[in-house]
Amino acid sequence: MIFLKLVLQLTFLTLLASSSSVRNKGKHSPWKTLDGTPTLLFAHRGEKVLLPEHTVPGYETASILGADFVEPDLCLTKDDQFVCHHDLFLRDGSDVENHPEFEHLKRKTPDGFNWFIRDFTLAELKTLRIVQQNTGIRPQDYNGFFTIPTFQEYLGVIHRMTFKLNRTIGIVPELKNPSFHNANRTSNFMEKLLLQTLAEHGYPINLISDGYCEATVDGGKHPIPCPPVIVQCFETPALEYLKSQSDLELLQLIQDQAELLTYKGIKEVSKVAKYYSTWKEYLYVGVAAEMTYNNKTWNETLIDSLGGFVPARKFAKEVHRHGMKVVLFTFHDSREPSTRGCAVVPGCQPEDKTKELDYFFELGVDGIFIENVAESRAILMDFEAQEEIRGVRRSARNFASALATYTCNVSGYLCGYSS
Ligand SMILES: *[C@@H]1O[C@H](CO)[C@@H](O)[C@H](O)[C@H]1NC(C)=O
Ligand SMILES: *[C@@H]1O[C@H](CO)[C@@H](O)[C@H](O)[C@H]1NC(C)=O
Ligand SMILES: *[C@@H]1O[C@H](CO)[C@@H](O)[C@H](O)[C@H]1NC(C)=O
Ligand SMILES: *[C@@H]1O[C@H](CO)[C@@H](O)[C@H](O)[C@H]1NC(C)=O
Ligand SMILES: *[C@@H]1O[C@H](CO)[C@@H](O)[C@H](O)[C@H]1NC(C)=O
Repeated sequence: MIFLKLVLQLTFLTLLASSSSVRNKGKHSPWKTLDGTPTLLFAHRGEKVLLPEHTVPGYETASILGADFVEPDLCLTKDDQFVCHHDLFLRDGSDVENHPEFEHLKRKTPDGFNWFIRDFTLAELKTLRIVQQNTGIRPQDYNGFFTIPTFQEYLGVIHRMTFKLNRTIGIVPELKNPSFHNANRTSNFMEKLLLQTLAEHGYPINLISDGYCEATVDGGKHPIPCPPVIVQCFETPALEYLKSQSDLELLQLIQDQAELLTYKGIKEVSKVAKYYSTWKEYLYVGVAAEMTYNNKTWNETLIDSLGGFVPARKFAKEVHRHGMKVVLFTFHDSREPSTRGCAVVPGCQPEDKTKELDYFFELGVDGIFIENVAESRAILMDFEAQEEIRGVRRSARNFASALATYTCNVSGYLCGYSS
């Protein structure tokens, strides 16, 4: 019951969100994003502040709360089925340790032992239950309830929610470690399987046009426009392959590959991707400060030859200059410490999430991977409203200043007044 009440409240919030964007249509836009539209909210692994990450209810909740895109991570089972899970392994995110029948699948790893998704068939995997990991404020109440979803189940959620909520919800699958998954298979196996799976569900792969997908609701099939798709990956060769075989929009994930954080590096990425995605900190304290803080080293000569690191406040503009959108990760719930600025603020003090998001909205960041979708949506709406007020204030101030100058010119009084 409590959950239902929450969902109803949140549906109301979503309605508010859509009415606010209608209200703003045609007015001066506060957004400095590449196409002048509001920053997109990518729900990081579903809605893990309320429900375990990468679960069907987690994806449903993220959709209801108003995410623009809902993120699944994709791994492959032994029988080559896509499942949604963040890690390649299962020890911390599932109850596999309580399953003696899988003891023989335990593998030695550098940090002890683990079970790999790649060693389980889908049928075997479906006997496990999700356990919330990296807990922090994330609830433990749902441990043991949910199974690891397949990619098909994820698509089912998004299509059903698109139909039921009557709004666009994008899909942004991340291919996890294609080089690992393609071992013992034909080359680009994982990438090909993704293209095939999307095509089977009606997504247009090779032409930039609308595709028709189906939503199963109440046992009936309903046609829906296919949700927008962005495919993300850390491995550039996988993206290059997808680009050669499809017209899908691609997102390059960048962790700490120093070369890609330079002027020439950004240009290189733009040859493959439409979205450039990296740590938010690089756009706040700068690349060198953040890398130093994380004990990462780089080759100074090489970085200089690539034009140097792009300064924090120029980063979004530089990505835009190459026709790409910039998407940053990861924005936590406001009750968790933000890591923004740890390199310059000792001790990583928790900070105001509104202040944090407003900073990146001001920079014109096109998308953010967020946790607590409702909270982020509310901050975004407030930013829009504030900007309108600021716009009015700006005009009023300009008018007052012009009037003062005029009065000064005419009467000789009030000279020296300006604002
Ligand atoms: C769905 O949204 C469209 C426009 O976005 C609107 O024209 C249509 O009436 C809506 N359908 C329902 C059932 O609300
Ligand atoms: C590929 O096969 C080899 C030999 O059977 C095995 O050791 C390795 O773990 C396999 N790789 C993957 C990713 O399954
Ligand atoms: C960097 O290295 C120092 C010294 O080994 C260590 O104390 C610190 O925790 C490291 N910082 C990070 C962010 O890992
Ligand atoms: C650093 O980069 C330069 C230029 O690419 C290269 O010549 C040099 O060997 C690199 N140094 C190291 C230590 O890798
Ligand atoms: C005030 O006078 C200056 C110089 O004479 C002129 O450039 C300016 O346009 C005038 N401003 C107004 C508001 O009339």
